[in-house]
Amino acid sequence: LADESRSVDELLADPVDYVLETGGTRHPSIPLPIELFGPERRNSSGIDLDDRQILAATAEDMATAPDVTLPAATDVDTLVTNAQSAFAEWDAKPVEERATCLEKLADLLEDHRSELMALAVNEAKKTIPDALGEVREAVDFCRYYAAEARAKLQPIELPGPTGEQNMLRMGGRGVWGCIAPWNFPLAIFLGQVTAALVSGNCVIAKPAPQTPRIAAYAVKLAHQAGIPEAVLQLLVGGAEEGAALVDHHGIAGIAFTGSVPTGKAIARALVADDDRPIVPLIAETGGLNAMIVDSTALPEQVVRDVVISGFQSAGQRCSALRLLLLQEDIAERTLTMLKGAMDALVVGDPGDPRSDVGPVIDQAAYDKLMAYRDSVSDRIIKTIDVPEDGFFVPPTLIQLDSMDDLNTEWFGPIIHVATWKAEKLTETIHRINAKGFGLTMGLHSRVARAANIVEARAKVGNLYVNRSMIGAIVGSQPFGGEGLSGTGPKAGGPHYLPRFCAERVTSTDT
Ligand code: NAD
Ligand code: ALA
Repeated sequence: LADESRSVDELLADPVDYVLETGGTRHPSIPLPIELFGPERRNSSGIDLDDRQILAATAEDMATAPDVTLPAATDVDTLVTNAQSAFAEWDAKPVEERATCLEKLADLLEDHRSELMALAVNEAKKTIPDALGEVREAVDFCRYYAAEARAKLQPIELPGPTGEQNMLRMGGRGVWGCIAPWNFPLAIFLGQVTAALVSGNCVIAKPAPQTPRIAAYAVKLAHQAGIPEAVLQLLVGGAEEGAALVDHHGIAGIAFTGSVPTGKAIARALVADDDRPIVPLIAETGGLNAMIVDSTALPEQVVRDVVISGFQSAGQRCSALRLLLLQEDIAERTLTMLKGAMDALVVGDPGDPRSDVGPVIDQAAYDKLMAYRDSVSDRIIKTIDVPEDGFFVPPTLIQLDSMDDLNTEWFGPIIHVATWKAEKLTETIHRINAKGFGLTMGLHSRVARAANIVEARAKVGNLYVNRSMIGAIVGSQPFGGEGLSGTGPKAGGPHYLPRFCAERVTSTDT
């Protein structure tokens, strides 16, 4: 919609003629019985499974996860001492050698895709397409960081204005603590770990207490790929073990992904002791992610993308849609279609290839989400039936009086809905920014200038226009937020590895 003679406000207030020119359907009257969640396509894994019939053939393999022996509990001090003694040799290796280990790990992950998917289904309760996406993303991280390291971590000769030689070298800082969440127990876990390792660091990796087995399996494969055992060690446990890792003075950096309160607790702990050096923290935390839909959007596309963004992975993605903001002129029609599409969702056993949405991770998450639903039951405008046994939280729409009423990340399949007026696009963005989070945002609009307005003002790490707002692809959509949502740098992006490195310059005169 490129009519420069009318303002964006005018276009949004009266879009019909323009929308018809695009060929889009403005008045569909039926719900969407469409296949919503296919396996995500990834860019480098080479896996070519692409429909549910083929995935169904793997369902039998998903029934049982391999036995994984967890390492015996070890105190953090012993792990740090082991890692420190291995650091110099690992850091001194040519970057190509460390990159090759990551590539071998990528091959091993692909060779063991079935076992890893079975662990993701059984331990993390991922649906089969999500489990496949998990392995693909882990593979992508390994290959991408290997390529990045080769390209970016080589010594650089800098100008010598007075005739001296200046060499900049990027190397490891020492021992990193990598602390991961349960919702991407392989991809995020290995993303942090492989970035730290290829940059020359040793790593003590602490998975979430809900998902230690898939992490232990991945660490075993990493050792098979040539990464020495003392260079990568696993610390199994929960908050207490995580805090002990953060508190240890031998730790040279922390990479953390998880909730905002934990991220803040780690940031406080790292500066609590005056005797400690300043320790870098990479924190990737939660989001309160909004999607703005204006009157020029294509309704079928909106509904498909809302369902994927809010309900895939049972809403347990940091990137997931939490707040759907519909321009009031199209709210009723959009909600009618959305409710129809929700009726087509299949909620069930994650190992069943027919399931679109599985359970939430555990009893605590289930209780928290169900108690919240109960507390706002008079605001629920749509929900669907789910199996009674298991932690199945029904996909739910909650109507808000005002978009300002939502300020908490509810980590499950719950979408809050509010409306906005055509002339209030800029104000709407400012109100989203005011919540303080800054992870993902969606926009559905056919007005290019509306997209420009959002792009210029939205304080978010990842803005998705006319598509779903989950499933960032390594190397193409570097992922991570700002404000309460994280410190950066973005995972899977060109600036990630240098943050794990010490930069050292040697200046030599003749
Ligand atoms: P969490 O904060 O409860 O736990 C994350 C990890 O931190 C776990 O390994 C946990 O054991 C550890 N931990 C807990 N307390 C600790 C402490 N005091 N010191 C050190 N470590 C501690 O988060 P979660 O429930 O596992 O994950 C869900 C959250 O993660 C959501 O808020 C989600 O938005 C966020 N998340 C963010 C991203 C991102 O890229 N921004 C990605 C995935 C998940
Ligand atoms: N990187 C994950 C996504 O984009 C969290 O959905």
